[in-house]
Amino acid sequence: MAKSKTTFFCQNCGAQSSKWIGKCPSCFEWNTYVEEVIQRESGKNKSTIFSQNVAKPVKIKEIKSGNETRINTKDQELNRVLGGGLVTGSLVLVGGEPGIGKSTLLLQIALNLAGLRVLYITGEESEQQIKMRANRIGSSNEDCYILAETQTQNIFQHIENIQPQLVIIDSIQTLHTEIIDSSAGSISQIRECAAEFQKYSKVTNTPVVLIGHITKDGGLAGPKLLEHMVDTVLQFEGERNYGYRIIRAVKNRFGSTAELGIYEMHDAGLRQVTNPSEILISHRDTQLSGITIAAMMEGLRPMMIETQALVSTAAYGTPQRSSTGFDARRLNMLLAVLEKRCGFKLGTKDVFLNIAGGLKVDDPALDLAIISSILSSSEDIPVDQNICFAGEIGLSGEIRSINRIDQRISEANKLGFEKIVISKYNQKSIDRKKLNIEIISVSKVDEVFNILFG
Ligand code: TYD
Ligand code: MG
Repeated sequence: MAKSKTTFFCQNCGAQSSKWIGKCPSCFEWNTYVEEVIQRESGKNKSTIFSQNVAKPVKIKEIKSGNETRINTKDQELNRVLGGGLVTGSLVLVGGEPGIGKSTLLLQIALNLAGLRVLYITGEESEQQIKMRANRIGSSNEDCYILAETQTQNIFQHIENIQPQLVIIDSIQTLHTEIIDSSAGSISQIRECAAEFQKYSKVTNTPVVLIGHITKDGGLAGPKLLEHMVDTVLQFEGERNYGYRIIRAVKNRFGSTAELGIYEMHDAGLRQVTNPSEILISHRDTQLSGITIAAMMEGLRPMMIETQALVSTAAYGTPQRSSTGFDARRLNMLLAVLEKRCGFKLGTKDVFLNIAGGLKVDDPALDLAIISSILSSSEDIPVDQNICFAGEIGLSGEIRSINRIDQRISEANKLGFEKIVISKYNQKSIDRKKLNIEIISVSKVDEVFNILFG
């Protein structure tokens, strides 16, 4: 009998070595090498439904160009993140923490695509559980097949019979292929199974969506290598305590990675949030200090978002600075600018900053709103709810211009804001014609104070 063959795999990055090593030479992690049995069956690979197709070299000018065909997923948020729909023949990986709603999202997509033959393969739940979930979601697609199977060779047999137009796999970590001996979820299994589906999707031009788990530290469980194999990596995230879920593209061969989709989880599945500004601004009756609204961009989409600050006298010697959803180092920089350029003594104060909705933002245009909410909380004077802000702050206290100012202003205008505070240097580029909003331009941080509190 042939001796079984084993290799060592780094569980972090998937690098391979013939002997055990303590420190991975490719990702420099310690103690990540695990021995896995990879005994290949001699002779043929059983999943041969597509291996008859042998590729030939073609001259580049003979390749027919044309826009890639895309499947409209009937979900505007997902379409946008994918760059306009699901490209046929693409391999998409959807990653996210357990319980975030990956299965719900993809079942929902499968059920909404009436008229398209969808095969939903589940290795985690039974058919009954999927049915219960489908009942909750409520839509139905006559041509949606559910298959509870984890062995890829069997899966390909069913695929051959059903000839699906879209394949969803929940999740890649539960699959295993016969040609490798190690257990499901190990690096070599994940790699081999993904490779089989990659080949299948390219040869048959069928889009395949893989669901992948995320480890505690936020990486896709195990395989960095999975990210290299797929065309698109989507990250599904959100604070579990908020109802909002965000999907963003981390890698996309067919579109921009700047886009973002927002959903709200409710008792009948995920609902698309098409106007995010509505949920990110709380409409209050009373005026509260420390709250301002920023006109920010997420990808190509403008949205208004609430920033909240709380400034209070530090109870202990060292003041605390904490921020949720915003870079803490940038907050420290803004505080230093306020201290140095405007003379606010914030060095002895605790400062807490919070971005609404559990969103993580990194648009520098938020700076202006953030210092305004800090000033408002520090002085305990509310800022008018009808003002919004968009501007970046430089180290010398100057307000710098930002990109896409027109889009931000028109979004603010559309949502009924009366005033927007922007940088003086952005002023020239504005088309004021159809605007019904007062534009206040500032060049220095100290001017902001006068505008806010007169
Ligand atoms: P699920 O899709 O199972 O997450 P994942 O596949 O990412 O592990 O979603 C699980 C959570 O979503 C679960 O806690 C229940 C909740 N949920 C709702 O709130 N409403 C619904 O309609 C559904 C189907 C799930
Ligand atoms: Mg799931």
